[in-house]
Amino acid sequence: MSTIKAVEWVDGKLVLLDQTLIPIEEKYLHLSDVDSIIDAIKRLAVRGAPAIGVAGAYAVVVALDEVERVKAGSEKLEQMIDAIRDARPTAVNLAWAVERVRKFVAQGREAVLAEADQIAKEDRLSGDAMGSIGADWLINRLGSKPLTLLTHCNTGSLATTSIGTALGVVRTMHSRGLVKEVYADETRPLLQGSRLTAWELEKSSIPYRILPDGAASMAILSGRIDAALIGADRIARNGDSANKIGSVAVALACHEAGIPFLVVAPESTVDRSKKDGSEIDIEIRKDEEITHFKGLQVAPLGAKTFNPAFDVTPSKYISAVITEIKAYEIAKGEVL
Ligand code: MRU
Repeated sequence: MSTIKAVEWVDGKLVLLDQTLIPIEEKYLHLSDVDSIIDAIKRLAVRGAPAIGVAGAYAVVVALDEVERVKAGSEKLEQMIDAIRDARPTAVNLAWAVERVRKFVAQGREAVLAEADQIAKEDRLSGDAMGSIGADWLINRLGSKPLTLLTHCNTGSLATTSIGTALGVVRTMHSRGLVKEVYADETRPLLQGSRLTAWELEKSSIPYRILPDGAASMAILSGRIDAALIGADRIARNGDSANKIGSVAVALACHEAGIPFLVVAPESTVDRSKKDGSEIDIEIRKDEEITHFKGLQVAPLGAKTFNPAFDVTPSKYISAVITEIKAYEIAKGEVL
């Protein structure tokens, strides 16, 4: 069980733990207007595919309240809902959750709120299931011994309403006494690994170290790592998986080293309308995220950038995709 609550609905407001401030400060945002929620999603105050799905669902309730407050019509409401859905393009959970609650708008606010609660509940329950399916998979493959596990970005309670996806498997392994150490990639440029994953591991007393993204392949090829686990923002039906930039480099190194590379995500992250990864829209973020660090210029003024937030790992480099339902044996040719 994790006590971290990244996204919650409290007294008619969306309450978000502002992830831009962690690990320095634990501050909650209490949001009751759609623009502030969209801003929070875009600037990653709330982030991680399942968490932004849940936030997006509750944001539709906020949109209904706002339209009522300012006496706007249904056209304005639809525009607001579209804007919530489109706040970030790669994680399918956001669009999936928003469209799921949109279907209840005609039935009124309470029906929309009930559906948003249901999405949050399903997400909460999915973590434990992924945790045990993933841990069982690792034990089957590598035996019941303490492992050194590498992970990328943050896939824990900050990114979900549960124990997490990939980090949920790590937590489950730890609860079974099977984690020797976690290598947490720092995750450039926004440091979700060294700021957020390390913060969660620290709180859970799970042994860890952080490493620059560029050190991950060295760690893997030098035999320090037994398996790598990542989350996903969207998984195509052939298993190609979009996740935080840098994930594919981890997968390639695992393939070369012959160690398992697992993608752990709820079924809500699987997008069966996408044949393969080439159909996944990758978010490109602004120059300043890499030309500046906390407002300080760290590159020549006017430097051109390439700043994709995500990459796609081809299914041929993935050992298995773990969801709350099952382990899809991607390396054995299984599709989703
Ligand atoms: O840009 P972010 O921080 O939202 O990216 C998050 C990731 O890439 C996560 O690995 C993914 O959303 C899965 S979270 C359980």
